[in-house]
Amino acid sequence: MTARRPRLLDRHRPAPAALREELAAGLLAETPRISPKFLYDQLGSRLFAAITELDAYYPTRTEAAIFAARAGEIAAAAGTGCTLVDLGAGDCAKAASLFPALRPARYVAVDIAVDFLVESLDYLQFRHPAMDITGLGCDFSSRLELPPEIGPGPRLLFYPGSSIGNFSPDDAVAFLRQARAASQGGGLLIGFDLVKATAVLDRAYDDELGVTAAFNRNLLNVVNRQLGADFRVADFRHVAFFDAAASRIEMHLEARADLVVRWPGGERRLAAGQRIHTENSYKYTIDGAGRLLAAAGFGETHWWTDDADWFALFWAAA
Ligand code: TRP
Repeated sequence: MTARRPRLLDRHRPAPAALREELAAGLLAETPRISPKFLYDQLGSRLFAAITELDAYYPTRTEAAIFAARAGEIAAAAGTGCTLVDLGAGDCAKAASLFPALRPARYVAVDIAVDFLVESLDYLQFRHPAMDITGLGCDFSSRLELPPEIGPGPRLLFYPGSSIGNFSPDDAVAFLRQARAASQGGGLLIGFDLVKATAVLDRAYDDELGVTAAFNRNLLNVVNRQLGADFRVADFRHVAFFDAAASRIEMHLEARADLVVRWPGGERRLAAGQRIHTENSYKYTIDGAGRLLAAAGFGETHWWTDDADWFALFWAAA
């Protein structure tokens, strides 16, 4: 008898020329920007994993505590034996922590790079020999569409970690509409980071060890490789702060001196103190999160928070 293997579907082969064009356009914009999707090269993924271990970065462990404390209630709301579709699965640890309660019949791990999924999925398949496991490589940030090969609905879409906060509220509604359609009459289990004291938020995005700074600044290494640019990482400092009016953390890379960045076919001059915008992380209230889900067309919701009300997990029916 041969052991069952996870199935792998690779739907993400971005053309290097298109990526270069996107990067150059961002660097040449009036307010220069680099898309956060370039944060997650191999080193970036490891640095983010290190961030989630920091005392300062509360979202991951707070959400995990909600999963642990509420697993039974989550399963009662979302149902068992489902097709669980994990959007941005990474090491699959969050979804796997819910397997005992949700007992999914099928597990579909979606991430931008299918090769990052292989090891985790092999291990999960070994642990759960009867489960139908698929790894799907696709970039769902601009358009979420699930291929028919993953099997028929309804599906429980899983979007933890407050990744929804990395979209602007309008883009978040557009994304959630697609998620609702992709669930084919199922539901959504989604994490929202909540508005809280500014000092707590600021520290989560600018920790004293400098791991978050390293994660953000590593973006320049990625751009140097992808675009052939000549950024000197040492010339930039990490800047992150909570903008209460916009209810978001903003992440930037700030030039320490007047400088010029060059790449084949272009250059950008930056004055000392000028910033490249790299990511936003919107923070919601319970009401705001509920409104976002309603605006996307979801029906009944249930939600759970931690004791300090720092993080919320919502289940919403399609
Ligand atoms: N999705 C994570 C968040 O918003 C991403 C993140 C954490 C991040 N720390 C960062 C992005 C620092 C850029 C820089 O919480």
